[in-house]
Amino acid sequence: MVKICCIGAGYVGGPTMAVIALKCPGIEVAVVDISVPRIAAWNSDQLPIYEPGLDEIVKQCRGKNLFFSTAVEKHVAEADIIFVSVNTPTKTRGLGAGKAADLTYWESAARMIADVSKSDKIVVEKSTVPVKTAEAIEKILTHNSKGIKYQILSNPEFLAEGTAIEDLFKPDRVLIGGRETPDGQKAIQALKAVYANWVPEDRIITTNLWSAELSKLAANAFLAQRISSVNAMSALCEATGANISEVSHAVGKDTRIGSKFLNASVGFGGSCFQKDILNLVYICECNGLPEVADYWKQVIKVNDYQKSRFVNRVVSSMFNTVSGKKIAILGFAFKKDTGDTRETPAIDVCNGLLGDKAHLSIYDLQVTEEQIRRDLSMRKFDWDHPIHLQPMSPAAVKEVSVVWDAYEATKGAHGICILTEWDEFKTLDYKKIYDNMQKPAFLFDGRNVVDVEKLREIGFIVYSIGKPLDSWLKDMPAVA
Ligand code: NAD
Ligand code: UDX
Repeated sequence: MVKICCIGAGYVGGPTMAVIALKCPGIEVAVVDISVPRIAAWNSDQLPIYEPGLDEIVKQCRGKNLFFSTAVEKHVAEADIIFVSVNTPTKTRGLGAGKAADLTYWESAARMIADVSKSDKIVVEKSTVPVKTAEAIEKILTHNSKGIKYQILSNPEFLAEGTAIEDLFKPDRVLIGGRETPDGQKAIQALKAVYANWVPEDRIITTNLWSAELSKLAANAFLAQRISSVNAMSALCEATGANISEVSHAVGKDTRIGSKFLNASVGFGGSCFQKDILNLVYICECNGLPEVADYWKQVIKVNDYQKSRFVNRVVSSMFNTVSGKKIAILGFAFKKDTGDTRETPAIDVCNGLLGDKAHLSIYDLQVTEEQIRRDLSMRKFDWDHPIHLQPMSPAAVKEVSVVWDAYEATKGAHGICILTEWDEFKTLDYKKIYDNMQKPAFLFDGRNVVDVEKLREIGFIVYSIGKPLDSWLKDMPAVA
């Protein structure tokens, strides 16, 4: 029986290995992690991440050919193929701080593999890493090899959270990069055989190592760039009376452009886009390409602009102050169908409003109070460095309450901000909500989920990103 071990039981390692176990009954899959609580959760009824469809698969395979364990060294030693799916956060200090990827976790995993291995291994980069990382990993492994042969493959993951299982079942493509040597090609074929259990062969692309590593950063940069492009247009729509939904629809109908990923929003979030673009920027700078670095940097700048523009719009609409006013925040996760809050735009929007002394009442379907409070008190980039977590600052969270019901969150509020596109927010009883709010009642839709005209009929003053402005908002000072 082929044995696979995956180091890192996170948002990628957990779902990816669960699907491999489901689709390949002849393979034994062990997912290992240094985090004891995370592994305990994977072995319980309350999985550590929320992902539609994941529970059923884990229930079906766990204890048969899928195991979650903290016995990292044992499972690594026994495996034929080792996936490394550890976090690769942005560096917070030292050379490249604020941009470069921190490979501390990756390097310690590689050193551990070198220490405990007693047989030849295929080591697969599943984490998103800077181009050329495989070369560094190869050096760590071979300098400590004790005669053991290692083949490094790059097999970046393209799943999106909230649709991870769907994406893993039917990937647009699986990308495998390896050395162009006979041994390298053999390793590529071995990994290809795993995916071929359910992925059609024409969807499995093989390349050299550096193309695979760079393609992952490039794909995320292209996706994020589309969102910043449409968000930049949304600002112009508001200034001119054009409607971003109509513009997106018209632009996306061009088959060369396509309709996906053109939804204007309060800004993109998630653990990948910002981190990977910053990493790309750093790589460009290190390769003497400042113009290319500046081009990609702009994608992040527009994203930051979109978040601060939203906060400014809220404050300026509400008579230039939200001090002491109750603002209901509907949605805190970075997108619907996940409880993940990493880099969620809600953090910057909430902090912006708290900076203006607002009182926030926050409701999300999946995010816990503990998580929200931690997010609002953490320093930038610290979220992905669990070992260095900063203590909470009580002053920063005092004006925040977290509730488990949208009606409770909005009761007595002066304004509502919708920050995640949860389906529930489309079907709330907005008349009931309006009746229980302070007047004038404001609603700021950061995800374009509500029916603006209907809400205006009820009496709300509505702002929806990139949509023609309410006459009330037109009379307010311009938003920069
Ligand atoms: P995560 O933080 O959810 O999981 C990483 C896990 O690795 C953590 O549980 C951590 O405890 C564990 N870990 C760290 N060092 C370890 C070590 N030495 N030994 C054992 N375990 C260790 O991260 P994630 O979201 O799963 O992302 C992992 C990688 O995949 C990142 O490089 C990310 O960029 C990439 N990626 C993420 C997504 C996504 O949607 N989240 C999608 C594609 C690619
Ligand atoms: C992303 C990539 O899509 C995935 O391929 C990669 O493997 C990891 O990074 P993820 O971050 O999980 O996935 O979610 P995604 O659906 O890409 O959304 C990212 C952010 O962009 C979210 O905040 C989402 O709300 C926002 N978004 C997305 C928009 O604002 N508008 C859109 O049109 C699409």
